[in-house]
Amino acid sequence: MQRIYQFILIIILLLLLVFDIFTNKPELFPSSRISPCYTESSPTSGKLESNAEKSEKLINVPSTLDLSNKSYFIDGFDRFDWYQFQLFRKTNDRPKTASNISTLYAYEFEHEITVTTTSWKRMGHRVYCRYLDDNNIEIGIPFESLTYPEYIVSCKKRDGTKKIGLSVEKNGDFFPLPIIDRMLKKPKYELSMCVASIYGDEPKWLMFIEMIEHFKLQGVQHFYLHIHHASEYDMRVINDYVRTGEVEVHYLIERDMRADNHWHMVNLADCLIWSRGETKWTIFADLDERIYMTNYTGTILDYVQVVKNESIASIQFRQQWIMKTELMPPKYEGDRQLDKWMPTHRWHSSSGIGPPGHTAKCIVDTSKVFIMFIHYVTQFFPATNGSNYVQIRVDPEEGLVRHYRDLSLGDWGRKWLNSTLKFGALRDTDYPSAFLGKLTENVKRRAKYVYDNYYD
Ligand SMILES: *[C@@H]1O[C@H](CO)[C@@H](O)[C@H](O)[C@H]1NC(C)=O
Ligand SMILES: *[C@@H]1O[C@H](CO)[C@@H](O)[C@H](O)[C@H]1NC(C)=O
Ligand SMILES: *[C@@H]1O[C@H](CO)[C@@H](O)[C@H](O)[C@H]1NC(C)=O
Ligand SMILES: *[C@@H]1O[C@H](CO)[C@@H](O)[C@H](O)[C@H]1NC(C)=O
Ligand SMILES: *[C@@H]1O[C@H](CO)[C@@H](O)[C@H](O)[C@H]1NC(C)=O
Ligand SMILES: *[C@@H]1O[C@H](CO)[C@@H](O)[C@H](O)[C@H]1NC(C)=O
Repeated sequence: MQRIYQFILIIILLLLLVFDIFTNKPELFPSSRISPCYTESSPTSGKLESNAEKSEKLINVPSTLDLSNKSYFIDGFDRFDWYQFQLFRKTNDRPKTASNISTLYAYEFEHEITVTTTSWKRMGHRVYCRYLDDNNIEIGIPFESLTYPEYIVSCKKRDGTKKIGLSVEKNGDFFPLPIIDRMLKKPKYELSMCVASIYGDEPKWLMFIEMIEHFKLQGVQHFYLHIHHASEYDMRVINDYVRTGEVEVHYLIERDMRADNHWHMVNLADCLIWSRGETKWTIFADLDERIYMTNYTGTILDYVQVVKNESIASIQFRQQWIMKTELMPPKYEGDRQLDKWMPTHRWHSSSGIGPPGHTAKCIVDTSKVFIMFIHYVTQFFPATNGSNYVQIRVDPEEGLVRHYRDLSLGDWGRKWLNSTLKFGALRDTDYPSAFLGKLTENVKRRAKYVYDNYYD
């Protein structure tokens, strides 16, 4: 199967190349199949550009440099060709010219610098990587790349690069970004969490504290958080977790027009790259979700630590909805308020358990994932030993997602409650008692620390 598939891919690739020669557009595959990753240290001046272009072609011949490290290649292809190829498979189209591009962060890996973007509806668009040295002088001619997967751009590495940016025209305007080091020998964390982008008016402080303290008790060591909008009051506690080193924040600034929920996709893409190499396992879940182990004795960390099969790259948990019938309180009022209002204390009425895969949530090894979606991995990288990476499902007898679903927000109760009731009639369930005492204590402690002396 694998072989036939590869064969078909190669045929398509060859056809594309032939098509390219006929249409005289060599930019479709700017790099040869085996091209070095440290190349093109050519002059920047406009006058020399044609020479520089020639020298780029010359340098792009097979080189021993990359052959020395097989991990540069993906499925036997130059990784940049492979990316382009995935886009072609998906959209059957060549890269289009973007009208503009807004960048987010840049991360340097062993074989590439990956830049994340925020511009909406810009998948499969042509962009140029722009490299700057210590003195902010541009290095070499811009490298043509593309936005694929959505919100992600891969740039070849160049010696001496200190900052990088993206432009839509070859010599167009760009904002340089500093580069985050992801050339790590081994992951810093075993288990982290990507929290879905924060937006909307509902007060978040208590939901947020409970989420963090819940996952900390489950062994989560680090939280990656995207904020599109949060109130100043909520930011107090978020910033306090930044202060204690548990939470890292990326802010998302709107430069297009989109509904707030579309920021979830930017969160998935940026977090895929942000966590890659820094953590072994990453939970992708929302503020109002509590993944926990049911009859498995141990924490989520214990559970992922026994996954030894390197082919397993995603662990998927089924969903149970807990009916959240009120909005969260706006301000902290003390311990007694928390006993009443912590979601785990307040809401118990629960749906049946969603069928396998239905709005499920995953814990993934982001180094093995090419495209991530909210509920599953859309595409894994090809595994290195000819087998495939796989997603496994956790039985509800072992673990579940408790999702405190607000019935009024997004009109969920009217639109979706019906279909979830098909999975079973409402019944009361509880947050695991083994953790409830400690959770409550930790939530109270942090809330008091941050808000007890809040005057405004
Ligand atoms: C090749 O890459 C692997 C991991 O990607 C790395 O551990 C190794 O040191 C690299 N080898 C060379 C010769 O650069
Ligand atoms: C970028 O281009 C899009 C589509 O052409 C346009 O709607 C948007 O306003 C532009 N954004 C910026 C920040 O220029
Ligand atoms: C690892 O998992 C894969 C996919 O489920 C399976 O094919 C393979 O046999 C497993 N390897 C071991 C050593 O269990
Ligand atoms: C490689 O192959 C072996 C044997 O089928 C398997 O157990 C292992 O998990 C595979 N995957 C990786 C990524 O090593
Ligand atoms: C856990 O095990 C008990 C006893 O076997 C069973 O009644 C219960 O349904 C299980 N819980 C879950 C969530 O599967
Ligand atoms: C939900 O169920 C009620 C009662 O069965 C029905 O009248 C209504 O049309 C359903 N709504 C949707 C959106 O399916």
